[in-house]
Amino acid sequence: MSQDDRDIDKDADQSAGETAAEDRDSAKETEAAAGGEDHVEGKPRADGDSGDSGDSGDSGDSGDSGDSGVAEEPVPVAAAAGGDDGGDVDPDEARMDMELYGLLAEYRSPAELIAAAEKVRDAGYTQWDCYSPFPVHGIDPAMGIKRTILPIIVFIIGLSGLFGGLLLQWWTNAHFWPWLVSGKPFFSLPANIPITFETTVLASVFATFFGMWGLNKLPQVWHPFFRKPRFARATDDKFFIGIEAYDPKFQRGKTEALLTDAGALVVETCYTENSPGRLKLPRPVLAFIIVTTVMALTPVALIGKARVEKAREPHFHLVPNMDFQLKVKPQVQYGLFEDERGSRDYVEGTVARGQLKEDDHFYRGIVNGNQWAQTFPDQVKLDGATMARGQRQFGIYCAPCHGASGHGNGMVHNRVANLQANGQFGKLVAQGWNQPSNLHQDYVVRLPHGQLYNTISNGIRSMRGYAAQLSEDDRWAIVLYVRALQRSVSTASR
Ligand code: HEC
Repeated sequence: MSQDDRDIDKDADQSAGETAAEDRDSAKETEAAAGGEDHVEGKPRADGDSGDSGDSGDSGDSGDSGDSGVAEEPVPVAAAAGGDDGGDVDPDEARMDMELYGLLAEYRSPAELIAAAEKVRDAGYTQWDCYSPFPVHGIDPAMGIKRTILPIIVFIIGLSGLFGGLLLQWWTNAHFWPWLVSGKPFFSLPANIPITFETTVLASVFATFFGMWGLNKLPQVWHPFFRKPRFARATDDKFFIGIEAYDPKFQRGKTEALLTDAGALVVETCYTENSPGRLKLPRPVLAFIIVTTVMALTPVALIGKARVEKAREPHFHLVPNMDFQLKVKPQVQYGLFEDERGSRDYVEGTVARGQLKEDDHFYRGIVNGNQWAQTFPDQVKLDGATMARGQRQFGIYCAPCHGASGHGNGMVHNRVANLQANGQFGKLVAQGWNQPSNLHQDYVVRLPHGQLYNTISNGIRSMRGYAAQLSEDDRWAIVLYVRALQRSVSTASR
């Protein structure tokens, strides 16, 4: 190979006085030779090194010769293009299914690469690129690469993430399903900041990641220049400029001269298959894509099927847990009984153990058959523990409406009043909202214990009963606490 490299130099020297046609031929020779030999592993490197040392002395010469060659170039090149099919033809060019992809020029150092890139840039080429084993400082301006528009894309998509997040929260919380939580406003910026922040970051990150791939036209797993064994050294110790044939400025001879003139060691012509067949994915890749797509869609399809399908048998259940048990569910047919009903009536004339509730005083607050009890039943211990229990349960079940002090100004009422004052909350106002009673009114203070107990159990007018939430013990404890509360405030208390 060192032999070849020296040939190139010789050719370059001669080209000063010769036609570009010969130039091209010689380049082809090199190509063919390079192609032939580089198949042997390891060889290109060793050879290339020796070639380098040979070149270094002549580099000035070749540059000069290039310069002088350019002046004479234009006319002969056209002729050369036609007369190419002489002896040594690039095997690729000879193939009918190949078309010209571009020119690949090799340079020795980053400095040469930058100098060459500047020339190519100034010549007005657009469809070209530099290839180097490592990032070369100053290559961007040398290539005339403009500042990336990625930040603008990210900004716009980030903004849409911001407003999308706000819209999402407004739509769900304030518009579509306004749900009052602890009297907080339905839509409020401070509360919405965290989610807005997250959606902004999410959108920006996706825009950055995919924008970078898109703008760089990635992923790209193959490139026509890979056909050139020499190009492998772009990952090692050589620097390349590749100009693609579809560049509007591209003229084979002219472009080649430009690259050589810019100090290229070698300029290679690169071909690529033009048959539609090259667009086809290799079969294994195609098979992989199909199989993974089908597999990825299977769970979705199964879920979709399960959602619309009505089946007599339970759906396929991977982890049964305790979902299926031997038991009789309410309202089902059950063969054990004569009338085949799963649900059974209470057995007539019986009461379950401990559920008789015959003590009117304790369970209903009534004594002597029809009078409100003025006293606490014997079951209720009038001590600190009961009082503490009553205070606790009052705080949970009564204070939201009646207020911690019992004046009828609890948080729920205040919220409604606020909304009413602002003209909001039309629906609730239309349904009517009664202010919870002030528990310190004289007549409430004078209610017998039993009647107060009954109010808590069964509710009164627009207030619901709390028998389902509170046990009898707890209801009496609340009565005790309300009495203490009234005594602390009211003059009417006994
Ligand atoms: C959801 C709000 C709300 C809760 C919770 C609530 N109340 Fe009431 N309460 C009301 C309203 C409203 C009234 C007035 C009803 C009316 O006049 O239509 C009322 C009335 C009363 C009265 C007056 C009865 C009368 O004879 O005028 C008492 C006593 C009372 N509540 C006790 C309680 C106790 C004790 C609790 C806790 C177990 C409780 N309330 C929980 C809303 C509530």
